[in-house]
Amino acid sequence: MAKKQFRVGMVGYGFMGRAHTNAYKQVGQFFPSDYEVVLQAVSARDAGKVKAFADQWGYANTETDWRKLVERKDIDAIDICTPNNLHAEIALAAAANGKAILCEKPLAMDAAEGLKMVEAVEKAKVPNMVWYNYRRIPAVTLAKRLIDEGRLGKVFHYRAKFLQDWTIKSDLPQGGAGLWRLDLAAAGAGVSGDLLAHCIDTALWFNGRLDTVCAMTETFVKERMHTQTGKVEKVGIDDACTFFGRFENGSLANFESTRYARGHKALYTLEINGEDMSLFWDLHDLHRLQIFDYKDEGKIRGWKSVHVTDNSPDHPYMDKWWVPGLAVGYDTSFTHQVADFLEGLSTGKPASPTFRDALETQYVLDAVLDSAKKQQWVTVGKA
Ligand SMILES: NC(=O)c1ccc[n+]([C@@H]2O[C@H](COP(=O)([O-])OP(=O)(O)OC[C@H]3O[C@@H](n4cnc5c(N)ncnc54)[C@H](O)[C@@H]3O)[C@@H](O)[C@H]2O)c1
Repeated sequence: MAKKQFRVGMVGYGFMGRAHTNAYKQVGQFFPSDYEVVLQAVSARDAGKVKAFADQWGYANTETDWRKLVERKDIDAIDICTPNNLHAEIALAAAANGKAILCEKPLAMDAAEGLKMVEAVEKAKVPNMVWYNYRRIPAVTLAKRLIDEGRLGKVFHYRAKFLQDWTIKSDLPQGGAGLWRLDLAAAGAGVSGDLLAHCIDTALWFNGRLDTVCAMTETFVKERMHTQTGKVEKVGIDDACTFFGRFENGSLANFESTRYARGHKALYTLEINGEDMSLFWDLHDLHRLQIFDYKDEGKIRGWKSVHVTDNSPDHPYMDKWWVPGLAVGYDTSFTHQVADFLEGLSTGKPASPTFRDALETQYVLDAVLDSAKKQQWVTVGKA
């Protein structure tokens, strides 16, 4: 039977533009489905640069205005790979034009904006998903399966860190290509919206709603030259953010994120401690899940390091790749996410996280920043 076409129009061709396009090119080979992904068009403001990207990566054509892209009849899905301040505007226009939407994280600049996006996609009844790709690292997906099987028993603790060190230099400018993450107007927040958003998404997926939070933020470099105005301007983002919290299930949360942890480039670690089992995962060793099973017979009880590369249905996604024991990487989390999205289109059971799922992370982020500002505990909002 002929496959249905899934014609992608992507906005932005930076880091995520490349990661997503790589996934679109791989997915049909490794995860055959009812759909054939077609790289229909890519959009960005600079005609020459976007054309060069399209030629290198195989997009049929280009647009320099994303508004034209979302109106095109020959496009089924809009993929939003731009800085955070453009997510909502593009998503609302794409929903109004009946397109499926795959949006990068964080969903929005804040929960109020995110709610508008959720309402728009639900009103338009268009398939939607947010690229919280860490859910699709096989070791992380395996952890979720163990949690859902009830193997942990009562959960006591959840802790996560996401540490980097690339903004320590005080003469690093803010704003513009590559540096929009330091500009509050483009990013909406600092490490909280950028890095903690991932940690929070995984935490909510594993352990349910967060009820209350108590946070602390710091901006170590108070002023930086803005690349767009040429002037030294106040830095509005959080350079570091630490928070405690309490989940609805009674367990305690402990999160930390910074771009000032010298030596760490992308150290995302998470740990969950239950009465019967603890799980630990580290992005720098991404195919290993560390497991302590209290129910193991006493004399062999201890931490196990499970290499999640078995070519069997026991290890999520791995039967589609190589022979047992051979690893896959960061890039394949995006391939898995597209595969799940396409399967969701076929089955009518949407892949997570949908815009509504990702809105929960926005409520936590709003509460975290509010708590840091007020220096007090804050209750997390709900839709
Ligand atoms: N899922 C993840 O792990 C992950 C990792 C990195 C970034 N992200 C998210 O992806 C998004 C993009 O981040 P990035 O690292 O790819 O950024 P980037 O700076 O590498 O790329 C941004 C792209 O957006 C384009 N752009 C900017 N303004 C535009 C406009 N007005 N019209 C059209 N295009 C425009 C730029 O030309 C560039 O191609 C952000 O929301 C970020 O939070 C997610």
